[in-house]
Order: sequence, then C-alpha cells, then structure tokens
Amino acid sequence: MNDATSTIRRGEPAPASVFVIFGAGGDLTKRKLVPALYNLHVQNLLRDDFAVVMISRKPISDEELRAQMRTEFREFATGGIDDAAWQWVESRLYAHTANFDDADGYVRLAHRLGELDHERGTAGNYLFYLATPPNYFATIVHQLGNVGLTREEGGRWRRVIVEKPFGTDRDSARALNRDLQAILAEPQIYRIDHYLGKETVQNILLMRFANGIFEPIWNRQFVDHVQITVAETVGIGNRAGYFEEAGTLRDMVQNHMLQLLALVAMEPPTSFHADPVRDEKSKVLRAIQALDPEEVLTRSVRGQYGAGIVAGKEVAGYREEANVAPQSKTETFAALELFVDNWRWADVPFYLRTGKRLPTRSTEIAIQFKRAPHSLFRGTKVEHVPPNVMVLRLQPDEGISLGFQAKVPGPVMKMDAVRMDFDYAERFGATPSTGYETLVYDCMCGDATLFHRADSVDAGWRVVQPMLDVWKALPARHFPNYAAGTWGPEESHELLARSGRAWRNEG
Ligand code: BG6
Repeated sequence: MNDATSTIRRGEPAPASVFVIFGAGGDLTKRKLVPALYNLHVQNLLRDDFAVVMISRKPISDEELRAQMRTEFREFATGGIDDAAWQWVESRLYAHTANFDDADGYVRLAHRLGELDHERGTAGNYLFYLATPPNYFATIVHQLGNVGLTREEGGRWRRVIVEKPFGTDRDSARALNRDLQAILAEPQIYRIDHYLGKETVQNILLMRFANGIFEPIWNRQFVDHVQITVAETVGIGNRAGYFEEAGTLRDMVQNHMLQLLALVAMEPPTSFHADPVRDEKSKVLRAIQALDPEEVLTRSVRGQYGAGIVAGKEVAGYREEANVAPQSKTETFAALELFVDNWRWADVPFYLRTGKRLPTRSTEIAIQFKRAPHSLFRGTKVEHVPPNVMVLRLQPDEGISLGFQAKVPGPVMKMDAVRMDFDYAERFGATPSTGYETLVYDCMCGDATLFHRADSVDAGWRVVQPMLDVWKALPARHFPNYAAGTWGPEESHELLARSGRAWRNEG
C-alpha cells in the first residue's frame, strides 16, 4: 500500500476520511492541527467528505467545541483568515467525550464514526491522531482494536499517527513497537517527526538526488566533515514535567537530528517510494559506529544552561525554571562526534550540536569540503585558502549557500570569501504553514515516506543508548556549565578543536 504512493504528490485532494484526535484539549490541536487542516482546505487538498472528531475527557458539546476552536484559531492561524473557509472547517468538527481507558467510550466512538460515514460520506476511512502523553498510546490502540476500529477491509483504511517520544530508551521503544504491532500492521503506523515536514528538510533529498553535480563529491574523498546544528533561543517554557525526564538527547538527537544526518548521508534510494527511502535511511543509521563507554566520555558533550542574556534580555538558568529540580542533572545541550562506518563516509566526522538558550535560532547542515590539494599562492598574500562550505539552512531564512574564494579586483593578489546563495522565500514566496500540512496530507494519502519506521526508531536508540547509560551512571557534576546566550560549554569547542576543526560560528 505505501509503496504504491509516490512522494511526488499530485496535488489531488486526500481521500474521504474522518480525522480523529485523541487528546484534543492539548496544545498541539489548537496550535498546529486545526490551523494545518484549515491550510489544507484552502489549498483544496481536502474533500467535502471529511470530518474531524475531537476526543477529550472533559464533556463538551459540538457547539461548545466549535466556538472554542473558532476563538483559538484566530490566535493560531498562520495567515489571513477567510471566514467561509473557516466555516467549512468548523462545520465538520465534532466532539466526543471519553476516558482513554474506558471501553464503553470506544463502543460509542465506533457508533459515532459509523453515523458520520452516513452523514458525511467519509467512507469508513479513519485516521487516529494520538496527541496524548505516550503512556496512553498502547491503551488507545488496544481499545480501538477491541471495537474493530483498526480493521482494514473492503478498501477502507485505518491509520494511527503517533507523536514522539517513541519510548524513553531502546528497551521501552521496542516494547512500544511490539504493543502497537500487536494490533496494527506496520504500514498502518505513522510515527510523526515534525522536522520531516519542513520544506527544506524534504529538499535535502531533492537537492541531492535531482541534481547531477552534488553526488560525485558527496563522499569521503571530498568532504572533510559535516556539522549539523539545531540551535534554539527558547528555554523549556512550561514543559519541565516532560523535559526533566527527557533531556536534549532524547528530545532532539534521537529523532530530529539523526533524521537530518540520515538524509544527508543516505545512499540514493531505488525510487522515491516510502520503503526504498526508509530502507536507505535505516541502513545509514545502522552504520553509525556505536560509542563504547570510553568514547562517550571523549566524543560526546552535555551541558545545562545557567542564567544569562538572550536577545538582550536576562533569562533564568534551567534550574530556576518552574518545576525544575534545584539540583537537576538534565542536559539542555548536547554535542557529539559520530562516524558512519560505510564505504562512502569512513573517517568523515559528523558533528551534531543542539541546545536551548543559545544565542540565535538556527538549524543548518554544513558540509565542509576538503581544502584544495595544493596551494598555488605561496609567497603571495593568499597563503591560506579556506575550505568550501555548503550550508543547507533549514530555519529561519531557509536556503542553500555555497561559500568559495574569489579574487579581489586589483593588481595585488588578494582573496575574499563570497557566497552563491539560494533563498527560498525570495524565490518561491512564503506559504502559510504550521509544518504539519504535508505530514497530515501524506498520511491521509497513505504515503509513509516522511514518517519513522520501527527499524529506524530502533536504530536511533542504538546510537544514543550508550550516552544515556554513561550519563546516567556518571551524573554531571559541573552543571550549569554554559551561560544562556552562549554557544554551549567549552568542551563543545574542544570536541572539534582537537582535530583542528571549529564550529562554524567559532570559525
Ligand atoms: C520538539 C522538541 O520536538 O522540537 C522541542 O520537543 C523543540 O523541545 C522543538 O523546541 C523544536 O522544533 P522547531 O520546529 O522549533 O525547530
């Protein structure tokens, strides 16, 4: 089923369906999902035969739900609001009250969905979006299974979108996969990663594989190293409950950052269908050298921010944030040096760095090429020729640039760094987006290319598990070790400096 659908989307409306949201009272629904559905409608990507059922534990009528969503939508819409278009969405919203572990609630849900199929022509196709805390995932899927809502028969489909975290370590992730797969076939499970919905992330594949000029130099012969940075200026806001347990390694590295690495390092897939693409991503993740405990100490860095200044404003340290333990050992920064053990990448370091409360918000992948093999310029003012760097900027200011050296006009041999630059917004304009449109639409169309498959989740945990283990066994003694508004702890700089390299912002 997945392989039949191409990632090259044809722009047709998604098939008739009911979009069922568990945990509708949470932030995700109002901030992302409802605005995304509105944007999909405006882009003519939803059929009239469409409905949304929002399940929450708090009793609420359809009218109350619609009024509440109307108010919240005004706050979270990503662009101008067209009243008729909003009305189209609003008239398709339905409330359903149930506790996630209450069997009767699921019997009533099955009945309600059957009625909607009649009223709305939704054809028995259901997409269940689990926007709940992860401890409910297995329960909800089992209950859906008990009342037959996960059964695909007579051409109708049943799919489940699961939000991260996919487990808290390798064992719990495997247990979760087993629980889900006891009820659902793997192609029915859509593990969502909002990074993979970002336009520029998807463009990595196109840039690499739709252009002939990059692949020949995309390997150990020409690439010196790769830097992947996800820098955030925000702290943890009101998410201490989750973040204290998770930490940056689980929150950002295991999923988003390893996916970025996989897209940059994977081999060309045999086609752009879901499984060939995911096979290649999985292979490259499995080829990452696992660190032994000694290597964890030398090739990974953890940090936690103290008080400091971000964007000219004084901000509190992590331990002073609401609901954070005063002696918390949770990391808010991580930097790693990884190697991909395969023919293409042997000995090329991949440096990953991410943190909260860094000086700027920027997500980018920098491919640093090897220097020119021989300097022609000895004895001139140009003895030192810096290497070429290709930067894929994912956010903000999405674009791609290639840095190279040019001669400064004049009789003296002088050189300056210049850039060829492609800027997304300048070329294509900005489309209002929450980042969820593509993923929701793809799931409705049965295209799983941009979703995690069970094996790549496992491969991601395999990479981070040694760090989780060592960091737990040897709790950090020196936290906080970077001030908010700086680029992380000194060791992060040293991680590259010992091989004569430097992070781009330090270069
Ligand atoms: C989420 C993490 O998955 O990604 C957050 O849980 C993080 O901690 C967020 O802030 C970053 O996403 P984006 O799209 O703002 O880069």
